[in-house]
Amino acid sequence: MSGYTAPHCGSLRASDDGREVELYGWVARRRDHGGVTFIDLRDRWGAVQVVLRHADAQLRLEYVVRVRGKVSLRPKGSENPKIATGQVEVVAEELEVISESEPPPFPIEDAEEADEKTRLEYRYLDLRRPRMTRMLQLRNRVNRVIRDYMEEREFIEVETPILTRSSPSGARDFLVPSRLHPGEFYALPQAPQMLKQLLMVSGIQRYYQIARCFRDENLRADRQPEFTQLDLEMSFCDEEDVFALVEGLFARLWKETIGVDIAVPFPRLDIKESFLRYGTDKPDLRYALEIADLGEALGDTRAVIFRSVLDGGGVVRGLAVPGGRDMSRRELDELVTLAKGAGGQGLAWVPGGTLDKHLAADEVAAIKRLTGAGEADLVLIAADRRRKAETVMGLVRQEIARRRKLIREGEWRFLWINPTYLFEEDDQGHLTYAHHPFTRPFAEDMPFVEERPYDVRAHAYDIVCNGYELGGGSLRIYDPAMQERVFQLLGMPLDLIRERFGTLLTAFTYGVPPHGGIAPGIDRIVMMLGGTDNIRDVIAFPKTQSMADLMLGAPSEVDQSQLDELQVKVVARKKPDS
Ligand code: AMO
Repeated sequence: MSGYTAPHCGSLRASDDGREVELYGWVARRRDHGGVTFIDLRDRWGAVQVVLRHADAQLRLEYVVRVRGKVSLRPKGSENPKIATGQVEVVAEELEVISESEPPPFPIEDAEEADEKTRLEYRYLDLRRPRMTRMLQLRNRVNRVIRDYMEEREFIEVETPILTRSSPSGARDFLVPSRLHPGEFYALPQAPQMLKQLLMVSGIQRYYQIARCFRDENLRADRQPEFTQLDLEMSFCDEEDVFALVEGLFARLWKETIGVDIAVPFPRLDIKESFLRYGTDKPDLRYALEIADLGEALGDTRAVIFRSVLDGGGVVRGLAVPGGRDMSRRELDELVTLAKGAGGQGLAWVPGGTLDKHLAADEVAAIKRLTGAGEADLVLIAADRRRKAETVMGLVRQEIARRRKLIREGEWRFLWINPTYLFEEDDQGHLTYAHHPFTRPFAEDMPFVEERPYDVRAHAYDIVCNGYELGGGSLRIYDPAMQERVFQLLGMPLDLIRERFGTLLTAFTYGVPPHGGIAPGIDRIVMMLGGTDNIRDVIAFPKTQSMADLMLGAPSEVDQSQLDELQVKVVARKKPDS
């Protein structure tokens, strides 16, 4: 066989007219026409029409064949401008069936969307579909552009271990029991955060890695338990260096994969403003719809629902829906359900809602002024604790844009969320880190850290595009005393700090450069470039929502002997639905 040097089915063009070729591929389609059979022969590069004079009736879809024949221009009128090989066909002189195929469980075609469970069970067949092959090629291209770009800037790729120890990134660890150290566990990295910082102490200065990360957290359409980051770190840098590096990289990626010029530098937005105006820290700026704070309009209100929330330290936020007075009661009820689903109290609206009789005329006028609502517009209102009201309004904003088709498709609205804050409140109302505990605070904010911890700004940034968080990073603390202080503010006892972060703190006593970095998520970048909102589309062998690999059947039970060797005892076996 000379398959490696043979021309590809998908790369034949009119200029190949008259050429003798030997092709290898899969039978993608078969049509019989009075003694002549046409097949589409598919390989990774695409498909080409092959004309057979004496086709074997047994030649079926997905058989693997070798064809020897001559390329010729298709007869006038039978060209297919929709495919790249559409000008030509190959007139076969010889055909050999190399291997046969059972009828596939779903058609290997883009037009036919089989259910995802079957696709994942037979992923090796799903990846044969041109769309999926293109996704893998796109992902490869993205990795290639990243490597070129980083190498040109003298970053070096360093591989860090997969069997490592826990480093906090806000999710659960995947643990691996150790056979030689019974009762002890390795953790798979949630991100190589501490290691890349230690590489800066090593003097590597510019590090990057296309790094696999593992997080045991609730999955969403843009999350997988195992995903890939472009992890990077540099010494002697400030935020501007990171911004310029990353903006250049994204500009190059967009240009070299989909031919789009994106505008740099990206605008920056304070995280508090982002929550206020868009109800999220990853706003989609492809539509206007801005949320307004209505506190000022309702200072003296007698409307009980607002009065009690405002008196209790909560907020009232409003959003004008353009032309929204035409919304049906049913549509509004669906939005209320959405708000409640997000843990909110519900939604109110003016005009036309129950609020009309409780609000004074000047209050309604002020609400309209603050939200910019015109005559045909409806103002949706949420009153709640600040973060709740913001989340609700953020979701409502998104939903309104989707339903009313306000999203300007084809636009790429990148921005930096910066500055951000060092701490945030967890679900129990305790102080926790907003990014991770290595983030450098603004030095000038530290004097009031005890009194107003939530006002301490951080040298941290997220890169956001069209509603997706594509990456996050920060400048790091490099003063061991400051690092210890932040750990203490987070409520970590000294012995725990020593145990978990002792290595980093000790390393910082041996000459540490100021450093910082970021980690863009490669899966999400490929999702955007590939035009899909399902992360599983851009990963060759992804997990389902319940973290199962349906093709290989992972996770799975293991032999008792393996458990014995590891000294691991299973106390309960209970499976979630897949
Ligand atoms: P962070 O936790 O913000 O930062 O993660 C960085 C980026 O990784 C991607 N990402 C994910 N992608 C798919 N599935 C997931 N489960 C998932 N979780 C995260 C996102 C996210 O923006 N060590 C720090 C970076 C740093 O400070 O340099 C970190 O991991 O695109």
